[in-house]
Amino acid sequence: MSDLITLCKTEDVKDEAPVSVTPDGFPALAVYLFEDEYFVTDNLCTHGMAMLTDGYQDGDEVECPFHGGAFSIKTGEPTSFPCQIAVKTYPVTLVDGNVCIPAA
Ligand code: FES
Repeated sequence: MSDLITLCKTEDVKDEAPVSVTPDGFPALAVYLFEDEYFVTDNLCTHGMAMLTDGYQDGDEVECPFHGGAFSIKTGEPTSFPCQIAVKTYPVTLVDGNVCIPAA
């Protein structure tokens, strides 16, 4: 099993209130809660210099604060124009109440 890094506590992430984290060795990341599951994506929109955590989570999608583009928080795939390039997603493991992803 690969090493994990801790991003934040599960209790810090609320539905429709994604959390921005900046772990060493990673780009800025966004942590989401949807239907009792946690998801992690890159935080930077692939369309421009906007952080998705500054936008709006609506169900399993996050809308960028610029231009109205959106992504699936589960797959990273763009769901609304003008976003056309997926954001990277990371597999989540929960350990002792922490949201973790594989170390870089
Ligand atoms: S910067 Fe995100 S939609 Fe344009």
